[in-house]
Amino acid sequence: MAEHKIIIENISESISVSTGTTLADAAQSAGVDIQQPCGGQGRCGRCVAKITSGHVRQRSSLRLTNEDIDEGYTLACQSIIESDLTVNVPEQEKIERKLVTDLIAKKILVPENYNGLVAQSLKRINLEISPPTMEDQTDDWGRLQRALRKKLQLENVGVSLNLLKRLGSVLREGDWKINAIIDMEFAGSRNIPRVIDIQAGHISEDEPLWGIAIDIGTTTVSIWLTDLISGEVKAQVAEYNQQITRGEDVISRIIYATKNSNEKEMADLVIKKTINPLIETACKRAQIQPTEIYKATISGNSTMIHFLLNIPASSIRLSPFVTAINEIPLLTASEIGIDINPNGTIDCLPGVASYVGADITAGVLSSKVDEAEITTLFLDVGTNGEIVLGSKEWLVTCACSAGPAFEGAGVIDGMRATKGAIEEVWINNDTYEPNIRVIGNSKPKGICGSGLISILSELFLVGLVDKAGNINLNLEIDRVREGDHGPEYIVVWGKESATGDDISIKKVDIENLLRAKAAIYAGFSVLAENVGITLETVEQVLIGGSFGQYINVEKAIQIGLLPDLPWEQFHFLGNTSVQGAYRSLLDWRTRDKVTEIASKMTYIELSADNKFYDAFMSAMFLPHTDLSKFPSVEIALNENLLKTV
Ligand code: FES
Repeated sequence: MAEHKIIIENISESISVSTGTTLADAAQSAGVDIQQPCGGQGRCGRCVAKITSGHVRQRSSLRLTNEDIDEGYTLACQSIIESDLTVNVPEQEKIERKLVTDLIAKKILVPENYNGLVAQSLKRINLEISPPTMEDQTDDWGRLQRALRKKLQLENVGVSLNLLKRLGSVLREGDWKINAIIDMEFAGSRNIPRVIDIQAGHISEDEPLWGIAIDIGTTTVSIWLTDLISGEVKAQVAEYNQQITRGEDVISRIIYATKNSNEKEMADLVIKKTINPLIETACKRAQIQPTEIYKATISGNSTMIHFLLNIPASSIRLSPFVTAINEIPLLTASEIGIDINPNGTIDCLPGVASYVGADITAGVLSSKVDEAEITTLFLDVGTNGEIVLGSKEWLVTCACSAGPAFEGAGVIDGMRATKGAIEEVWINNDTYEPNIRVIGNSKPKGICGSGLISILSELFLVGLVDKAGNINLNLEIDRVREGDHGPEYIVVWGKESATGDDISIKKVDIENLLRAKAAIYAGFSVLAENVGITLETVEQVLIGGSFGQYINVEKAIQIGLLPDLPWEQFHFLGNTSVQGAYRSLLDWRTRDKVTEIASKMTYIELSADNKFYDAFMSAMFLPHTDLSKFPSVEIALNENLLKTV
């Protein structure tokens, strides 16, 4: 196969690649990482590069204008190399880190009456072992087992090879007195107890023992470093999941991983590039060594857990949508490469289905839906909307593919909820002029999910958008116009924006938002219908995930995303997934409860439910085809109508 010389101008270096390589892959081998938010499907138009000499065969140039193409711009994921090339890669979008840390800086309350010495599956114990004699030539491991039998009545105990290699010298160095760390969690139905670490000599048995709760979100990974004896969280750290450069939603990432056999890359991005650096930061803050951490409890959606373990996730996106595994056996840190003590326990919480994963079982645990006396709706909206309806008696669940619109992706001027994002908008009834609030009080760069909900609701209430989502072009105002992508409303003029370009919401964005909100609302409706109740009878709505941090309930009701219930019935709980992982890390009985929750949840596959399509189509309108389901919106519309008469 012919080889071609590729010069990447940014790094003034050349590499050689064979015919047929994509420009994105070539750049990556040269050490220049081009972000691929849609996973390399040619849909998002964000992996642009400029060819300054040579040419490529373009599979698709969607979202590039003719001018872009004339100037040499191409989509790196869609460009097949067939000649020598010189390429310029524009600077990649920087991810703002500050706001991620802002999200997590709050005090975590230790569960009431927590006693680590009782609740914890990890035990630190001092053992005195009888030394061998000519009369008793029992091997070293047999002696340690004998001591454990005597002290903890343990009949069967596991150990790793690397620990066995150190056993002889530790026993002799400590003059047959050792301190051992045992994980009892391996006991009972799940496995056998296991010796995790040994040290020469005796140490106080209530010395801190360290563990971490990890939530692997599609967007953000959060870690809580915890003293397992006191239960206190000593450091909280979070960072964008570095897989984000390979797709913003799980489907794009699965496509990317499957297409290029890149499962290992996805595991590396989350373990080596995200989790391990976070562990290092947390340990520095708490002034401990990562090898002092003996247990990690992990939550995350099913795709994230598959990627973590380097298990192919392709079946998750293909009918009949099954995972490779929902309940992962206990593993050790060295098996998957997480930088804690190599013998440390890795406990991935159980999921229910492809799109209802451990993040939701952990969320149900921490939000206590499974203990609720009243009918409760729990929802976690990220790139997918996962919904649980129930109480202590019953739990039903479903997942709807909302797409990433509420995270600001798939929307032309959309962005994540970071500095420079428009998060709230108010539109004047008479002048149609907007007032905006921007995250970080800086010049606006784009619109995040809450901003989009806010704009759509305002446009609808002031009559700039009709119930089908059409922008009214008949009004003679500058802010409404026919743009390159169809009708649009200008939220910020270029002279006031950070980029110098106008920021607008377009008809196509509104269609995207309508589809996203309709999928979620239809999910609520189908769950309620399946258990024979109406949404009006729901007594509380618990919202987990970062989505809930900024969302304005009133606006979300006005567009028909949330059911029209009194505002005081809505509660925002933050990251319920990491909270559930933390509570499971602390107490083995709580951990068992997550397994119980997973088995108690009845999963409803929406794509196989005939009611879903009808519910979805009815919810494709603002707020809904049946306005009687949204009485507060009807009142707001009438009030606005009166004002404009
Ligand atoms: S178009 Fe190339 S990654 Fe999305």
